[in-house]
Amino acid sequence: MEIDRRRLLAGTGAAISLMAVDAAATPLGKARSGFLWGSSGASYQIEGGNVASDLWVLEHVKPTIFQTLSGDACDTFNRFEEDIALAAKLGFNCHRLSIEWSRVEPERGQVSAAGLAYYRRVLEACRKRGLAPVVTFSHFSVPRWVAASGGFTDPANVAAFARYCGRLTEAMGDLIHIAATFNEPNLATVVRWGGLSEKYRPYILAMQKAAAEATASPKWASPLVSGESQYAGILEAHAAAIESVRAAGGRFPVGITLAITADRPANGDATGMNRKNAEMVDRWIAAPGDFIGVQAYTGSLVGADANVAPGPGEELTQMGYAFMPEAAEGAVRLVAARTKKPIYITENGVATEDDSRRVAYIRGAVAGVERCLADGIDLRGYIHWSLLDNWEWMSGYGPKFGLVAVDRTSFKRTPKPSARVFGEIARRGGLG
Ligand code: BGC
Repeated sequence: MEIDRRRLLAGTGAAISLMAVDAAATPLGKARSGFLWGSSGASYQIEGGNVASDLWVLEHVKPTIFQTLSGDACDTFNRFEEDIALAAKLGFNCHRLSIEWSRVEPERGQVSAAGLAYYRRVLEACRKRGLAPVVTFSHFSVPRWVAASGGFTDPANVAAFARYCGRLTEAMGDLIHIAATFNEPNLATVVRWGGLSEKYRPYILAMQKAAAEATASPKWASPLVSGESQYAGILEAHAAAIESVRAAGGRFPVGITLAITADRPANGDATGMNRKNAEMVDRWIAAPGDFIGVQAYTGSLVGADANVAPGPGEELTQMGYAFMPEAAEGAVRLVAARTKKPIYITENGVATEDDSRRVAYIRGAVAGVERCLADGIDLRGYIHWSLLDNWEWMSGYGPKFGLVAVDRTSFKRTPKPSARVFGEIARRGGLG
């Protein structure tokens, strides 16, 4: 199978404070009080050994679209204290992480007390170091039993997700600063506009068929790769999860994070781009929730039905899409024009081996954040993707998004110059 990774990921970019950040968790100089500065990670990409997840199955069947096994990932499962201490030392005041549902509920209805206690310890470590936890309840992966019965097309899984979010709230809600139910549930729309859904459908169908056979689950559907057919169920699960969090006494804001590209119209005709923007964000913004998490990496020219591939001479990242530090600002403005909900940039970053380009990207992105704030947009945080070089889904360990390098054998963490630059920005609360 020939995977055109550059095109596959082109344009896929791809997160009210009811409570202020604790004073102790806010080492901000002249920054707006409570503005979040931090870095991000997702359980499946960094913890390692998430064997009860649906993606573990997809990685191990043949054919698979995953080029490299996630394996031990960054071994964050065992090294979370080190990572959290590092993030705090760099100067951040928040830490974005996700909770692996399959560690908390490895089989339907079988809740792991040890799993809950583990994530409570992770959140306690954040609080101890003065980092406000920004938590995602499901970052692309779900327990294998969820995929086995059809993902979110199965109403039982919609209810199970809500119950899981309620349990998390009971077990650790006192430690959560803000939470997103799902990470980028709109990604399939962004991929479709990238012109790639049709091309990859046969490979994805073959992989899911292999998973169905391997697990004797004819209805197997992993939400991450099952596209827009999962949207209705995910929207129901999102709404039910918010109710469940509230019923469990959770007072923290709950929202959703969205993959957003910052585009321009091709040939001066904005018809296609306007349609793309509406399809990409509107139904999610209209869903219940306290905030919108914006996740933006790039953008492109958009024609009538699809993105236009980057032109010759355009600087590309390791993901094959345009190097665009202004993407975060563009995405925030797109959302701010459509909703009054508070906005957090929950992901923004660049895959590059050349860390000086990451420094340039971060400076450009933060300049955009400052322009948004100057214009009065209710933007409440900038969270960089990612703290660590990690497992980049279909692209394995190739693309380097991290502020911190991770040795693939010893797992030794080595901060890059960009980590110090962004840490100083965070301490100052801006470019200064
Ligand atoms: C996802 C991350 C991913 C990042 C970089 C986002 O779409 O939420 O998990 O690693 O983009 O591609």
